[in-house]
Amino acid sequence: MINPHGSTTLNPLIVRDQQRCEQLVAEAQQLPELLLNSAAAANVVMLGAGYFNPLTGFMNLDDALSCAENMHTSDGLFWPVPIINLCATAAEIPSAGKVALRDPNVVGHPVIAIMDVDRVEPVSREQLEFMAVKIFATDDLEHPGVATFMSLGSQLVSGTIEVLNLSYFQSDFPDTFQTAYEIRAEIAQRGWEKVVAFQTRNPMHRAHEELCHMAMKRLDADGVIVHMLLGRLKPGDIPADVRNDCIRKMVEVYFPKNSVMVSGYGFDMLYAGPREAVLHAIFRQNMGATHLIVGRDHAGVGEYYGAFAAQDIFSESVPKGALEIEIFCADHTAYSKKLGRVVMMNEVDDHQKDDFILLSGTAVREMLAKGQLPPPEFSRPEVAQILMGYYQQ
Ligand code: ADX
Repeated sequence: MINPHGSTTLNPLIVRDQQRCEQLVAEAQQLPELLLNSAAAANVVMLGAGYFNPLTGFMNLDDALSCAENMHTSDGLFWPVPIINLCATAAEIPSAGKVALRDPNVVGHPVIAIMDVDRVEPVSREQLEFMAVKIFATDDLEHPGVATFMSLGSQLVSGTIEVLNLSYFQSDFPDTFQTAYEIRAEIAQRGWEKVVAFQTRNPMHRAHEELCHMAMKRLDADGVIVHMLLGRLKPGDIPADVRNDCIRKMVEVYFPKNSVMVSGYGFDMLYAGPREAVLHAIFRQNMGATHLIVGRDHAGVGEYYGAFAAQDIFSESVPKGALEIEIFCADHTAYSKKLGRVVMMNEVDDHQKDDFILLSGTAVREMLAKGQLPPPEFSRPEVAQILMGYYQQ
């Protein structure tokens, strides 16, 4: 199987020994505590689940600035986005020793991890803006990722962590949430070697579905993992439980049996376009995928990124050998009325714009809100029906 990123074995930070975990939970009650924000809690879940291998905890300011600037930590590990714990005030946090990190996303804020604090560092407004511009390619506060990033606080608390639980993801999505080590085990058990990962934050429409079929076929892959984001999104995006139902229905009806694993991960969407695509590649390598599909405006939002910037970053800015996973680059995919099927637009001749059915997410949402089903060329009827149920609530 493909190696994890930066090491030969995967090192998830979750404490898997039940007895030790209970002991740490008990010890945590005596420790100083820090209530995390959702972004930091999402990082804890990703670190705990092995997706952020080989990181051992939250980065310090040097590493964060270095990753933002040149996609490497100060010791030379390739990493495209700072993994940091920013908070508004660190007055209660000792500058060394253990701290109990509390989960903002679960009632009662249980302890999610214990951190061995390395440093507590103030971050200036200029340093935050510098990182925002490097990560998101803009410091525009209208950008949802920038708005979140700039609101997290200006104290950076770094150090190694031991993760005690994976927040609400296992209980809310028992059939869908998987850790990177569980996916590796399932890939091995299925005997798959060439494995394509598909990132999504959407109910899958026909363009998405066809991308998976095309990648499977062209790469002669053993299987696809539809790996959906289960964490936080911006207002207007479709909630994870609805997406999960749509995706499962589509896979059941339109894919050969046993060719697809439907799976999910607990992270908040960053909307960082190209940089997020690279992070996506790292954590798909960590879960054992050999290929990641990157199509049009991957992890983008609004008009902030070029349609194929998330593909270009791999050829232009990822050093050779930095990643083992390969990228399956896809052109804009749409239904051709002339050919009666979904195609990559650059692969068909004699087509005008009107020969394709192109609908924006906004147009589809507006149709559903008015009680109109999106056309079957755009969305499978089974998927449209589930979406309609959600919009009509
Ligand atoms: S994302 O934020 O998770 O990237 P989305 O779920 O819409 O958003 O996209 C999942 C993947 O499908 C991404 O790789 C994206 O580039 C690709 N994709 C979505 N729609 C199209 C399309 N019409 N043509 C080509 N690629 C697409």
